[in-house]
Amino acid sequence: MRVLVLGSGGREHALARALHRDPSVTALHCAPGNPGTAAVAANHALDPTDPTAVVELAQRLGVTLVVIGPEAPLVAGVADALRAAAIPCFGPDRAAARIEGSKAFAKEVMASAGVPTADARVCETTAQAAAALDEFGPPYVVKDDGLAAGKGVVVTESRDVALAHAGGCDRVVIEDYLDGPEVSLFALCDGQDAVPLMPAQDFKRAYDGDAGPNTGGMGAYTPLPWIPEGLVDEVMATVVQPTVDELRRRDTPYVGVLYAGLALTSKGVRVVEFNARFGDPETQVVLDRLATPLGSLLQTCAIGGLVRGTRLSWFPGAAVTVVIAAEHYPEAPVKGDEILGLDEAAQVPGAYVLHAGTKRAGDGFVANGGRVLNVVGTGDDLAAARTAAYEAAARIRIRGAHHRGDIALKAVEG
Ligand code: GLY
Repeated sequence: MRVLVLGSGGREHALARALHRDPSVTALHCAPGNPGTAAVAANHALDPTDPTAVVELAQRLGVTLVVIGPEAPLVAGVADALRAAAIPCFGPDRAAARIEGSKAFAKEVMASAGVPTADARVCETTAQAAAALDEFGPPYVVKDDGLAAGKGVVVTESRDVALAHAGGCDRVVIEDYLDGPEVSLFALCDGQDAVPLMPAQDFKRAYDGDAGPNTGGMGAYTPLPWIPEGLVDEVMATVVQPTVDELRRRDTPYVGVLYAGLALTSKGVRVVEFNARFGDPETQVVLDRLATPLGSLLQTCAIGGLVRGTRLSWFPGAAVTVVIAAEHYPEAPVKGDEILGLDEAAQVPGAYVLHAGTKRAGDGFVANGGRVLNVVGTGDDLAAARTAAYEAAARIRIRGAHHRGDIALKAVEG
C-alpha cells in the first residue's frame, strides 16, 4: 500500500511513525510534513487545503490511500476531490466534516440521533445570546459556530466575557455547562460501522492545575485507569453508532475518525463536541499503544468493510506525552529559537520525541510553531511512562519554552 499523509504537526508525525511500522505500507509520503516525518517518509511541499493540488500529488505518487490529519482540508473538500478521482481517502467529505465545522450542525445531528449532549441554543443576535446565557447561568459556555483554530470556545464565570465572545462571532452555540472529567474517544468509521481506539485524556489549559488560556493541547495519556468499566461499549452504542447511522441516513456517510469529546457528568456520559479528525496530542499516545497495523485498518475504513464489534490489539503498558511549547504560546508564540537536547532526550529509556512545530536550520532544528515538540514516554504503567516523558522533557532546551509539569499526575496518584 502506498500512503500519503496530509498535515504537518505532532499528530502527523505520530501517524507517519505508526504507518511506517505497518509492513503492508510500502511507500510513505507526507504533505507538507515536518522534519520528524522526513525521517520515515518523503515530504512534499504543498498546501494541504488545495483539493486540486492534493489530487495531482496523490496521482503522481500513485498512492492507494490518503490520510487527512487536520480539519482544514476536510472542511475545504479535499476528501470529496480525492473520492471523485477514485483515490481511497481516510477522512470525511465536506458535508460530513460539518460535524466539526459547525457546532450548530453537530447539535442538530445529535438531537436527531438521540445522542446525549448538553442542552444548547443557537444564537445570531446579542439579544438571543443574552437570553441563552441567562437561561443556563454560570459557568457560561459559548462556542463559535465555525472553525476557529482552537479559539472558538469560551468557558467563563463572567457574563460580560461570555457576551463579548458571542458578539465577536457571527453565530454561536450557547450551552449548559457539563461537569465531570473529560475523555477523548476516537472511533474509526467506514461510513456504516465503527471501531473504537483506546480512550485518552488531554490537557487543554496552558499551565499546571488547569490554569491559563485554552491551547490546542499541552499533553495526554492513555490508558485511563479511572474510567468506568464498559464505558467504551456504552459510548459506541449511545454516541458513535447512532451518529454514524444518522449521517448515513442523510446520505453523507462518515468515513474517517469520529473524535468524541466526552464529559463523564453526574448525570452520565455527555458529548462535549465532535471533531472530524484525530485529536492532537491524544493521537500521539493512542497510536503508540496500537498493535494492530494502522495502514490496513485505515484503508479498510476508506474502502469499506469494517466488521462491527472488531477488537483491535494493543501493546500492554502506558504512554504519556508532554508538549514543549514555544515562548508566549498560545497568545503569540515566538519562532526561530534553537532546539537543543534532542539526542539526549531520545536516550532516556522508553522515551522518544515527535516534531510538531519545528524547522530545519543548518545541522539542527529551530522552533517554528506554538507547540514545538511532543515528548512521549512509555512504560509498564502510567507512573513509569510519566517518569520517562519528564526525564526526556528535562533534557530539551529551547530558550523561553514551557511545558506543563502535571500531565497524568492525578491519574498516577490515583
Ligand atoms: N486535543 C484537542 C484537539 O485535538 O482538538
